[in-house]
Amino acid sequence: MDNNLYAEHMATLCRRYDTILEACGFETLNVFSGAPRLQFLDDNPYPFRVNPHFKALVPVTDNPHSWVIYQRGRKPKLLFYRPVDFWHYVPPVPQAFWSGFYDIELLGKPSDAKAFLSADSAAFIGESDSLRDWPLGSDNPELLINRLHWARAYKTPYEIACLREANRIAMAGHRAAEQAFRSGASEFEINQAYLGAAGQGEHRMPYGNIVALNAHAAILHYNHLSTERLPESELRTFLIDAGADCHGYCSDITRTYAYADNAFAQLVAAMDEKQLELVDGLKPGLPYPALHRQCHLKVGELLAQFGVIKTSPEGAVESGLTRPFMPHGLGHFLGLQVHDVGGHQSGPDGGTTPPPAQYPFLRSSRTIEENQVFTIEPGLYFIDSLLEELKASPLATEVHWEKVEAFRPYGGVRIEDNIVVHAAGNENLSREGSVPTGFNKVTETTVTPSN
Ligand code: GLY
Ligand code: MN
Ligand code: MN
Repeated sequence: MDNNLYAEHMATLCRRYDTILEACGFETLNVFSGAPRLQFLDDNPYPFRVNPHFKALVPVTDNPHSWVIYQRGRKPKLLFYRPVDFWHYVPPVPQAFWSGFYDIELLGKPSDAKAFLSADSAAFIGESDSLRDWPLGSDNPELLINRLHWARAYKTPYEIACLREANRIAMAGHRAAEQAFRSGASEFEINQAYLGAAGQGEHRMPYGNIVALNAHAAILHYNHLSTERLPESELRTFLIDAGADCHGYCSDITRTYAYADNAFAQLVAAMDEKQLELVDGLKPGLPYPALHRQCHLKVGELLAQFGVIKTSPEGAVESGLTRPFMPHGLGHFLGLQVHDVGGHQSGPDGGTTPPPAQYPFLRSSRTIEENQVFTIEPGLYFIDSLLEELKASPLATEVHWEKVEAFRPYGGVRIEDNIVVHAAGNENLSREGSVPTGFNKVTETTVTPSN
C-alpha cells in the first residue's frame, strides 16, 4: 500500500471531520465498532458486521469492542480490543500502513474503554444497546450523520484504490465462476469456486452472493445456492452477482452467461452493449434519475428488438410497459457499504429527495458529480409474479406472450459494473483495460488486501 496515498486520505478525512464536528457543535466523536449479537435462544453470534462509521476511519472490519476517539485537531485514538481469549481469534496489535496515524491503546476487556471516553461536548456513533450508562455523548446525532454521509459520496484516491482492488479480487472470482458454470457445477459449487478464487470467505463478502442458474436469475436477490448439478441438456443460463472486500470497501459486479449460442445469448450480448452505453452516459451534471430513464428506453429497445413487445421503445417507457421487465434501479453509490449511503439525501444537512414515483426502487436521486462511484446495472427479467400482473393489465395486448414464454426459462439478464466518475472521464473498475482514450488513469496504485 502506498503510504502517501493513505496520508493524503487521512488529511482529507481529518479536515472533513474537523469541519463537520465544529459545524455541529462537538469537540469529540466516539465511534464504536460494535458488539457481537447472539442469535435468539442460542450462544452463537451472528457474523460480525462492523459499524461503517468505524471502518470509515480505520480499515479494521473484524474487531468488535473497539473504538475510535476523534478529537478535533488531534491525532485520533484507536482503542483496539485484544483480550486474553482461548475461544476466539484475537487480531494482532496493528502494524499496518495505517497504524501510525493513530494513538493505539489496547483493551483487555470491553469495559476498559470507559476510562478513555467522555461525554463532554461529544457525539457517539454506533449501536449503544450494550453500552447502557456509558459516557458516550449525544447519541447518533442526525445532523452530524447526515453531513458525514453526504461527504462519503466523494471518494479520495485511496478509497478509489481500495475499490479498484476490490474489483480486481471479484473479477478473479467471476472468471472462476464462469468456468465452473461451463463445466456443469451446481450453484453451490460455483459459489465455492468464486470464493476460492477471490480468497475470501462468505462472511467477508459485501452481500450474499447471487449465484443463479436458469430461471433462478429472475429472483433478484436469489441466495439459495442449490446443490443440484444440472444435466447438460438443462444448462442454459447463469447470472452471478458477487463482490469482494478491500480494507472495508466493496465491489458489486454482475455477469450473465448463456450456455448455447441462441436468442438468449444474443440478448445478453445486446444488453452488454446497452450497459456500456449507459456507463458512457454517467457524466457530471446529469441527474442520476435521467440516466435511469435512458436505461428504461434501452430496455424498451431490447424488448422491441427481440420481439417481446409490439409498442415502440418510447411508447413502452411512457406506458410503464418496461417496468415489469426491469423492476429495480439502474444502480447506486458504492463504497464502504454496497448500497452506499446518501443516495436520496437532498443536501449536506439532510432532507430526502425521493426517486421518481414510477421508479420507487431507484437508489439515487442525486446529480452525478466528480469523484463519485456508482454501479451501472441494467437488467431485463422474466419474473412470474410481475408477468402475471402484466397479463391482467390493459398493457397485456402490447406483449407477444409466446416470446415471453420462450425467454421465461432463462430467467433474465443483468450486467453490472462499478464506475468512478473522474473529471477526465469514467473509469470502469470492473472490466480489464477499459480506460477511455485520452484519459489518464488517476493512479496505478494497488492496495494489498488485508486478510
Ligand atoms: N448486489 C446487489 C446490488 O446489485 O445492488
Ligand atoms: Mn449487484
Ligand atoms: Mn448493485
